[in-house]
Amino acid sequence: MCLFSGEGPKTVFDVIRTRRSVRAYKHDGIERSAVMTLLQAATLAPTAMHEEPWEFVVIQDRNLLKRISDLAKPLFIESLHPVPDAFRHSDFDIFHGAGTLIVICARPNGPFVEADCWLAAENLMLAACASGLGTCVIGSSVAAISEMRKEIGIPSDYEVIAPIVVGVPAGETDASPRKEPSVLAWL
Ligand SMILES: Cc1cc2nc3c(=O)[nH]c(=O)nc-3n(C[C@H](O)[C@H](O)[C@H](O)COP(=O)(O)O)c2cc1C
Repeated sequence: MCLFSGEGPKTVFDVIRTRRSVRAYKHDGIERSAVMTLLQAATLAPTAMHEEPWEFVVIQDRNLLKRISDLAKPLFIESLHPVPDAFRHSDFDIFHGAGTLIVICARPNGPFVEADCWLAAENLMLAACASGLGTCVIGSSVAAISEMRKEIGIPSDYEVIAPIVVGVPAGETDASPRKEPSVLAWL
């Protein structure tokens, strides 16, 4: 969620500073045009050798989101130690109630495809924040999305890289702390 409350236009730095991983959303959906604006922002990211490898899947079908969440929990538990308690609860929604999931995918052609897609992901999240929308990367859904790829429409030779939920924040989210930059060398 964007917490900026100053006067005048937001600077990029205001948006970077006020972006949060939002984990509570209102039930309101997001218009197609708003999603397209976020995808446009994503595609303005830097991209190695101008490959523009990113492709997007948008899921707004709440039944499908629930099925992905239900499959994701046991899959994620297998790969995680210790397992956060929430993942053991049948009513826990890994998408935090958001009604829109944007999945950034790509064919794994070359060493920088993942980097490109994550840069696109950050652009998307900052653009959402600047528009008053909340986002959260849902890494715990990658295995389930991959497993359900046929139904979702992701070709077998694509990698699922960055699933991001988007929605209208249900409240304010506190900033999570950050370490000071660790400068290994400054020569
Ligand atoms: C690769 C990646 C995977 C993540 N997966 C999840 C996730 O599955 N569920 C979740 O609630 N948050 C997830 N997050 C969000 C992080 O927990 C969050 O970015 C971190 O705690 C810092 O908080 P902030 O984004 O509000 O600054 C993920 C973030 C990244 C970058």
